[in-house]
Amino acid sequence: ESSETTRMKTMYNDAAHLFNHILVNTAMGEKALTYLHERGLDDAMIQEFNLGFAPAKELLEAFFKEKGLEHQLLRKSGLFVELQDGSLKERFQNRVLFPIRDPRGETIAFSGRLLIKDDKQPKYLNSPETLIFNKRKVLFNFDKAKSKIRQQKSAILFEGFMDVLAAYRAGVENGVASMGTSLTNEQVYLLERITDHLDICYDGDDPGQHATARAINLLEPLTKMELGVLHIPEKMDPDEYVKKYGSEKFHELAHSSRETTIAFYMRYYEQDRNLANEADQLAYLADVLQRLAKIKSPVERDIYLNQLGKRFGIEKSNLEAQLQTYATKDS
Ligand code: CTP
Ligand code: MN
Ligand code: MN
Ligand code: MN
Ligand code: MN
Repeated sequence: ESSETTRMKTMYNDAAHLFNHILVNTAMGEKALTYLHERGLDDAMIQEFNLGFAPAKELLEAFFKEKGLEHQLLRKSGLFVELQDGSLKERFQNRVLFPIRDPRGETIAFSGRLLIKDDKQPKYLNSPETLIFNKRKVLFNFDKAKSKIRQQKSAILFEGFMDVLAAYRAGVENGVASMGTSLTNEQVYLLERITDHLDICYDGDDPGQHATARAINLLEPLTKMELGVLHIPEKMDPDEYVKKYGSEKFHELAHSSRETTIAFYMRYYEQDRNLANEADQLAYLADVLQRLAKIKSPVERDIYLNQLGKRFGIEKSNLEAQLQTYATKDS
């Protein structure tokens, strides 16, 4: 590891501690602390994840220069925005900070959330790419989750940081999240190395469901991991679900409501369709049968064909015949 890399990691580590201190021990952090408490995070959780608050103040430059760090390193750290005149302004202001750690647990970036919604600024702001942070390669909470993932032989992929924290609070500690983007190959490799089962638990709203479909499409040809979906009802996200129904219920959902990817698609293709209407019904069946045509196990296929047959009152042999037309086209 180059000395610059080491020094930059030390900077992030020091900054994380400073921002945590501001959140927990100072008047500047009071509003943010209340905000986090109201979102259901207690002090133990705040310390566990070393959450922080960056006030609307210039603190870091003086802090680092006092430690003898040179301007050039500060510029490269991504903790600042460089102005026209070459001066540095703090990147994170008035945001709750989630430290992003590498698999060894060292802080390499931040994601900062606004306390109050603002139309001019993004809700979450991430550190830029640096010498030590490549967002394609990072999964939030992977460092903490990895031993649980090994033990439980499965991982859960969430959309947001708050979802990972809500699950953790509910005793579901094998959760990770990508950095607000769709999953990358590198992130899949991280998981593949330690588990052969992955459950996707994205938000229950429409964007979350579309993202689930995209994630499955991306993962199926890429990985041997067995995939499942944890569906959050009422268009909520996992964090909202825990808030409304409690930890116990979420724990139950995570352990006993796993859908197969086919079950997910059978529900997903129903969205925006009225299955009492024949045209919609035909389109739905076409979508589902095309999916089923890709299943290799004849037994598994049979289960779903039986379900469809019963539900729509169609002879199974007819469903099979239509499925065959997709199978030949596809391969
Ligand atoms: N995200 C982002 N920038 C935004 C909105 C979202 O980077 N302007 C990323 C964040 O990583 C966020 C994830 O996308 O956690 C999911 O987005 P969303 O569901 O909108 O946010 P929540 O995670 O539900 O955030 P919160 O509960 O704090 O509102
Ligand atoms: Mn458990
Ligand atoms: Mn969302
Ligand atoms: Mn969400
Ligand atoms: Mn949320």
